[in-house]
Order: sequence, then C-alpha cells, then structure tokens
Amino acid sequence: MRTASQAVLAAGLVLVQSQAAAEPRVNYILHCQGCHLVDGRATEGKIPALVGAGRFLSVEGGREFLVRVPGVSLSELNDAELAELVNWMLYRFSADDLPADFAPYTAEEVARYRRNPLVEVERVRAELTVALRETGDE
Ligand code: HEC
Repeated sequence: MRTASQAVLAAGLVLVQSQAAAEPRVNYILHCQGCHLVDGRATEGKIPALVGAGRFLSVEGGREFLVRVPGVSLSELNDAELAELVNWMLYRFSADDLPADFAPYTAEEVARYRRNPLVEVERVRAELTVALRETGDE
C-alpha cells in the first residue's frame, strides 16, 4: 500500500509535469523555436520575424491572422495553451508594438480563429501590410 508521503510526492510530480507542459516559454521552445529561433528574428526570405508581429493587431484582420497562420492554427497544442503562447510571444518579442488597448487572446477566441487556417498566407499578409502602411505604422 502507498504511504501518504508517496501519494503526496506522486501528486507533486504530476503537478510539476502539467505546469511544465502548459508553460508558454517551454511550448515556444518545443513548438516554435525550431523555425522562429530563440529571439524571434526573421530568417531572410523564409521565415518572418515575430519581433514586431504585434503591429498586425493595429489593423482589421490582424488579430485573426496571428492565429490563423499554419504554424499556429495547425499546432498540436490545445486552444488554452495556444492562447497563452501567442500572448507570451507578443509580450516577449513585440511588447512595444502592442496597441494600448490590447486584450490578451482567450482560449475561446483562439478556437474560433484556428478553425479557419490560412491557406493564402502571403496574400493576406500583403493586404495587412498595405493596411498598416495606410495607418502609417509601417
Ligand atoms: C516549420 C516552421 C515553423 C514552425 C514550427 C512555426 N512557424 Fe510560425 N511561421 C513559419 C513560416 C514559414 C511563416 C510565414 C507564413 C507561412 O508561410 O506559413 C510563419 C509565420 C508566423 C507568424 C506570422 C508572422 C508574420 O509576420 O507573418 C506567427 C505569428 C507565427 N508564425 C507564430 C508561430 C508560433 C507561435 C509557432 C509555434 C506554435 C510557430 N509559428 C511555429 C514557420 C514556422
């Protein structure tokens, strides 16, 4: 029979494991960093920077865009983990670009956007960039 202390220890381990799995910084390393690098900088001609990605939040459609890109929407992470990760990503790499009224993504919102993964990423990104230029942000 398990002793009480063994049971407490086992519960503690489960807690540590689930916290580690849900921690956005760890999820970034495991699920994003291979392409987006440790500091979110661009790989010229291949991968856009996450540094500055927050500026998309200033134009219509930008909020959806950041979740609908395939690397995010098709991730194996669940909605709550993804919401936390995208919020972490924005504060970590793009804090200066966030609109003053930025409200962090919720799991429910992420669920809605990711149901509709982007196929024409480049076209949508180009349209958003034009809209950004018009607002004078780019
Ligand atoms: C296999 C490589 C790869 C992985 C893994 C990946 N991405 Fe990406 N990401 C890309 C590429 C390439 C693009 C450019 C759009 C496209 O072609 O999908 C992109 C675009 C983005 C964008 C839009 C940036 C912009 O300026 O257009 C965001 C935000 C983003 N990724 C976040 C993430 C997050 C968060 C994760 C982890 C859950 C992740 N990505 C995982 C390759 C990757």
